[in-house]
Amino acid sequence: MAWRVGIAAVLVVSLVAGCDSLPGRPRESDRPISPSQVKSFARLYDENCAGCHGAHGRFGAAYELADATYQALVDDATLKRIISNGIAGTAMPAFAQTAGGYLTTAQIAILVDGMRQRWKTGRPLVDAPPYAGPDGDPGRGARTFAQSCAPCHGPKGEGGEKAPGSITDPSYLALVSDQSLRTLIIAGRSDLGHPDWRGYPPGQPLSAEQVADVVAWLAARRQHFQGAVYARNR
Ligand code: HEC
Ligand code: HEC
Repeated sequence: MAWRVGIAAVLVVSLVAGCDSLPGRPRESDRPISPSQVKSFARLYDENCAGCHGAHGRFGAAYELADATYQALVDDATLKRIISNGIAGTAMPAFAQTAGGYLTTAQIAILVDGMRQRWKTGRPLVDAPPYAGPDGDPGRGARTFAQSCAPCHGPKGEGGEKAPGSITDPSYLALVSDQSLRTLIIAGRSDLGHPDWRGYPPGQPLSAEQVADVVAWLAARRQHFQGAVYARNR
């Protein structure tokens, strides 16, 4: 009969071990999961993006993603491409496993959908210059800069009362892609008090051509230091 007692003991032990409510035992939700299983937008964003783009997508060193104008300007495919492949020559890393990162295709889709649900809150933009566009003319850009940007940034972009940082400093320009300048000029940065394309000044929206021209003017101020890495602008 000893073997029956043995089986009973094994049963009792395995029942107890299988019981989830033992004191001290981590609950299902508390157990660590492998990084590729993380499916929560908040956790994916906080762990991978917030350090540069700011908690909740605002006030970061890098662009304000939680901006309704930006979210209306950019399309899903562009967001997916940028998050997957990063922006070469800038601090924006590639996150897709296929590009050397560690996020799965499903996780990148969760990030794109989550940003859209939370931050794409406004109506479609009316008469906005498109997200991307052809190169502009730096000569015409100088005139647009003087009229639309210099009031806050100073005549040479060296900084003014309303915007103290220099935006023509070669070290700053070496860090940013032309597209990121274009994005900022069109969609603005509401967290920093930067106008969007309708507000230079209000009532005088910039045309697509003026946006391209002013980007070209800024890009022409970029100095090329030997050995430095620059964004591939297209
Ligand atoms: C109403 C004032 C205002 C106007 C007009 C304005 N800006 Fe700005 N800009 C700001 C402020 C405020 C900041 C953030 C503070 C700083 O960098 O000094 C800023 C920052 C920037 C930056 C740096 C962004 C970053 O990521 O650090 C760039 C580039 C820039 N502006 C370009 C432009 C261009 C180009 C124009 C004209 C088309 C323009 N701005 C017009 C107020 C303005
Ligand atoms: C190490 C800092 C860093 C991290 C981490 C980072 N970014 Fe970026 N990101 C940047 C910089 C810098 C740029 C602008 C680069 C340029 O000049 O084009 C950028 C650009 C972008 C853009 C393009 C903005 C535009 O102009 O359309 C998107 C979208 C973006 N990041 C999303 C994300 C998401 C989502 C994550 C997290 C999965 C993330 N980033 C993590 C630094 C970072």
